[in-house]
Amino acid sequence: MAISSPILDIQHATVYRGDTLVFSDFSFLLHAGEHAAIVGPNGAGKSTLLKLISGEVHPLALDETRVRLFGEARWSVWDVRKKLGIVSYDLQRDYLICAEGRNVVLSGFYASNDTYEHQTFTRDQVDRADEVMRELGIESFATRVFGHLSTGEQRRFLLGRALVHDPPVLVLDEPTSGLDLKSCFQYLDLVRAQIRKGKTVVLVTHHLHEIPPEVDRVNFLKRGQVLADGPKSALLTNDHISSLFDRAIVLVQANGWYQALPGLS
Ligand SMILES: Nc1ncnc2c1ncn2[C@@H]1O[C@H](COP(=O)(O)OP(=O)(O)OP(=O)(O)O)[C@@H](O)[C@H]1O
Ligand SMILES: [Mg+2]
Repeated sequence: MAISSPILDIQHATVYRGDTLVFSDFSFLLHAGEHAAIVGPNGAGKSTLLKLISGEVHPLALDETRVRLFGEARWSVWDVRKKLGIVSYDLQRDYLICAEGRNVVLSGFYASNDTYEHQTFTRDQVDRADEVMRELGIESFATRVFGHLSTGEQRRFLLGRALVHDPPVLVLDEPTSGLDLKSCFQYLDLVRAQIRKGKTVVLVTHHLHEIPPEVDRVNFLKRGQVLADGPKSALLTNDHISSLFDRAIVLVQANGWYQALPGLS
């Protein structure tokens, strides 16, 4: 039986953002179906890791460095767009606020910030955008301007934009930050539905409550270093989380979900 290539294979990467050394000798391997949560404090390098995956930042070209996406050493932004559905906060912040809802979803076909006159969409693409909006419960906002939607609604449109290509992998950067409890749980339900449909989910977060029960692999990132990588049951303990965030933290658990509370220091 043919063994499929890992989704992502990063070996010994050194990455700078401007003058800041974010990763030094960084390695990370991810296989299809291996849902993972990258957890770590502010500045740990989580968003940089996503930018490394999407090709927005590059490692230094050192002899020992190897970065492969779906087994390929070189990939175009088009390959990334088709195979990875990326939703990040940067996207929401940078989005043209005057884009119409449906256009936000359609823009996923070009990975642009709106649709423009030179971009043409086939009937199939428009139908697909409508199908995704129905799936996410946002079809009634199709003609509303993005800037006039609530944060939760905007977040669902950006998920729709990521899903329009039907990518096998969904990459989420702090997906529920800024959402109220109901919107947060609705959003996580949508993510879980994608997992059930067979998509691999990689999540970057410092909020443990946004890790769905299906995501079992946890990777602790701190100051650009992988401190630990393994199953949730082994890593999500009071001691480990307290040490990751440098303060006393107590975890509570219910129905496969986790929440962090302040501990007594
Ligand atoms: N464009 C940039 N130029 C210079 N340094 C940067 C740039 N972007 C990020 N950094 C630095 O790289 C480090 C990692 O940043 P990154 O955004 O990856 O962290 P993060 O784990 O996503 O943090 P947060 O939880 O706050 O989102 C930080 O020290 C940050 O200051
Ligand atoms: Mg970040």
